[in-house]
Amino acid sequence: MRRALAAALLAIGLALPAPAAAADRSAPEPVAARDAAADALAVHDYLLSCGGCHALDGSGSEHVPALRGLDRLLARPGGRAYLVRVPGVTNAPLSDARLAALLDWIFVNFGNRTPAGFSAEEVAAGRAAPLVDPIAARAALE
Ligand code: HEC
Repeated sequence: MRRALAAALLAIGLALPAPAAAADRSAPEPVAARDAAADALAVHDYLLSCGGCHALDGSGSEHVPALRGLDRLLARPGGRAYLVRVPGVTNAPLSDARLAALLDWIFVNFGNRTPAGFSAEEVAAGRAAPLVDPIAARAALE
């Protein structure tokens, strides 16, 4: 009987989460802590507006660039402006704010390290100046 009780207590102990370690306030916010509803909206927007061309996992295809590793482009001079001026972005049937949130979601979820922090204003400015020749603009970033 005592053995059964001990086993039951042990099982409960194992099922309980470990006591939280002292919070490390300097650690970056984990992706899981992002707003779940905002993420669900971004997934929806990505599937409807981008995924058909860039593939569901952002890996692209023979004719469409991958959306993975965009932080490398972001780091180049002119890279940030380029990202909000490509046709797929400027022509998306989304508001500037939703597009900005979608770009951040892409940055976090497709192998990029951090959200790029695009604002609705920045997206609006990019859309107001769509690239005439995106292939040449991309080549100029290399
Ligand atoms: C009709 C197909 C299509 C759709 C839809 C589309 N794209 Fe693209 N995207 C492309 C192509 C093709 C390129 C290469 C540049 C060009 O020719 O426009 C590109 C380039 C890009 C680039 C630059 C990547 C690089 O490495 O140069 C980004 C960022 C991007 N698209 C984001 C998006 C986002 C975000 C969406 C959805 C809101 C989207 N695209 C929708 C086809 C598409």
